[in-house]
Amino acid sequence: MKFKTLLMMCAGTMSMATNGQTNQLRLTADNIDQIVAELTTDEKLHLLLGTGMPGEDNPHAMPAVGASDKLLPGSAGTTYPVERLGIPAIALADGPAGLRISPKRAGDDQTYYCTRFPSGTLLASTWDSAVVDSVGAAMGSEVLAYGCDVLLAPGTNIMRNPLCGRNFEYFSEDPVLAGKTAAAYIKGVQSNGVGTSLKHFACNNQETCRNTTDARVSERALREIYLQPFEIAVQEANPWTVMSSYNKLNGTHTAESAKLLTDILRGDWGYEGLVMSDWFGGKDAAAMVSAGNDLLEPGMRHQYARLEEALADGSLTMADVDRSVKRVLELVVRTPRFHGYKATNAPDLQRDAQIVREAATQGMVLLKNENKALPLNSKGKVALLGMGSYATVAGGTGSGGVNNAYEVSLAEGLANAGMTLEPGMREIYETALKAKPKKPDDLYWGAFLPEEILPETAFLQNAAADADAAIITFSRSSGEFADRAVSDFSLTATEDSLLRRVARAFEGKPVVVVLNVGAPIETASWCDVPGAILCAWQPGQEGGNAMADVLTGRVNPSGRLPMTFPMTLADVPSTPNFPMLEMTRKEMLEKFSGFAGATDTTALRRNIDYADYAEDIFVGYRHFDLAPQGVAYPFGYGLSYTEFEYGQPQAKIEGDKIKYNVQVKNVGSVAGREVVPVYASAPRGALTKPLRELKGYSKTGLLQPGESEMVEISFPIASLASYDPEAEKWVRDGGTYNFSSSPKVANVSVKID
Ligand code: BGC
Repeated sequence: MKFKTLLMMCAGTMSMATNGQTNQLRLTADNIDQIVAELTTDEKLHLLLGTGMPGEDNPHAMPAVGASDKLLPGSAGTTYPVERLGIPAIALADGPAGLRISPKRAGDDQTYYCTRFPSGTLLASTWDSAVVDSVGAAMGSEVLAYGCDVLLAPGTNIMRNPLCGRNFEYFSEDPVLAGKTAAAYIKGVQSNGVGTSLKHFACNNQETCRNTTDARVSERALREIYLQPFEIAVQEANPWTVMSSYNKLNGTHTAESAKLLTDILRGDWGYEGLVMSDWFGGKDAAAMVSAGNDLLEPGMRHQYARLEEALADGSLTMADVDRSVKRVLELVVRTPRFHGYKATNAPDLQRDAQIVREAATQGMVLLKNENKALPLNSKGKVALLGMGSYATVAGGTGSGGVNNAYEVSLAEGLANAGMTLEPGMREIYETALKAKPKKPDDLYWGAFLPEEILPETAFLQNAAADADAAIITFSRSSGEFADRAVSDFSLTATEDSLLRRVARAFEGKPVVVVLNVGAPIETASWCDVPGAILCAWQPGQEGGNAMADVLTGRVNPSGRLPMTFPMTLADVPSTPNFPMLEMTRKEMLEKFSGFAGATDTTALRRNIDYADYAEDIFVGYRHFDLAPQGVAYPFGYGLSYTEFEYGQPQAKIEGDKIKYNVQVKNVGSVAGREVVPVYASAPRGALTKPLRELKGYSKTGLLQPGESEMVEISFPIASLASYDPEAEKWVRDGGTYNFSSSPKVANVSVKID
């Protein structure tokens, strides 16, 4: 037996012997220090690791479904139980679009389906914290009902490039919109007395070689762009846990970065919760714990050995171990499981489906509506084309997926709304889809639709003679482990021909394109062809009904883009420093996922093993505002079926805040909602500033024709500061600040000393 192990066993026995009374000692919220003193070293090290250790020490293995599966089948991980001290294991499960657990259990007839809510991109497009909060609250109620303690969500990494495979799970290219959306989500989930895990902290902006790639980011861009969403979410919503990311940041794994996990997160932002690793993330377990990564998931044997070794050689202190153990226990005592809650396994799936539908309608973005092509007459007949019309993509894949009971396609949604579907097209697509049924594994690894087809011109002409309008859906799906291929950004040749042929056949009748995507695609080359374009995103399991609500005008669209739709990928400032791969997803998974990064001895591959964030703070509209070529659809863009008029805005200093208000009036003929953003433009100072930066936003209630609302938005004066890397602090120049909302609204200036 190894000396160390022997020592530890002795330590354990001694502590039991010297504390005869400990048999009675049980964990409570008030005796955590006492419990820490009572734990053996072995128990402490186990508490820093999840219980999902794979049988063999294989870093590539998926989480072992041992302990996690016993506690909550299909959950991603658990913490370690110490029964003698009344410390239960708690369950951690994904993810951003709703709880991801196994829908079936061996020897059990009951089903355990969860609701698939709209993807993150759609939630951010609502620009409505109340809607996001309501989605979070519904998700959290399922987390509680199924006996889960912490939901591994939301993800609020910045959308740096349209091709990041996980953009659908994230919120925005703008840190304020991303941060506030995350905060609303967390508040909603946690209102149920269950926890969240704000992830992936930080700069996990590409999936290619995500476990090893190094994000090389300037201190200013880091603070202002990439950390700010996390800072806002931590300060406004206090998530129970934060999840460190896989990647390195300026040479150090984020899970091993004391600067990130301790100095900034805890020191600067005052965070007191727990930090867990992403699954199999980080490299050196001891360095992780020293840095403040309290819990290592899913927990591997070699990590235990490494912690033991580092304790013995003094490179890891018992004080650091105790500090992290304490945070694990502080998390445990907050959970439903600790309080003896028994899973009801009876979430209100019907109510939650309704919440999906309502939220989804609030985040869809109307990009074009020439000659009032939309809304369609709900009693009309429509020719429906595109695979995604009949097999609508409800959400992305990987841990961002959900095992939901059903999904409503656009075809079903339109039929439910009372529309008649032109039978010729319907048959063509249904036949093609039947030939390629989804496999259960597709949900995790990537459920892709069959290749798009091109119905013959004669069929299209028949459909055009029969139907009042045509709708074509273009769908995209992606997920963790791989970024989108370059070609995924553009329409395929078949999709492009389909659109042009349909437009010719349907001349004089409305042709509508529905984008069923998780992130931007190219639109500039074809957007003049259809009469209307609705970006419906990946709208969750009630997607088809929600799409029909907007297409038929039951709900007036009020979503606004949370990121820019560029004209081309080449226009995107991060593109020269992004992988930009052209291969199939399968090839990407084989070559670039997992731990397949460079070793210390191989030459580092640019954009694969490292990425220079050379665009610095000029991400998204901060860049495009200064770019001469323009964009397809700008950040914040979105049309409505009605029109709004604005009064004269006012902005003034009130205490440590700026208060902005403006009157908004619905001057059109149908009820609708309007988003009001406020951007600040700073006076010229020592640091270069973007032309404008979003500081706050609000959305009106449903305004009837002729109705007005005074919209008020306030934000801290301190949020006008920029990070000065030389001074190593946030600085704000005195002078005249200009506040703008949209081209329809006058600007207003305030002098701030
Ligand atoms: C993902 C996380 C997820 C975890 C647990 C990882 O692969 O990056 O977002 O929460 O798995 O499933």
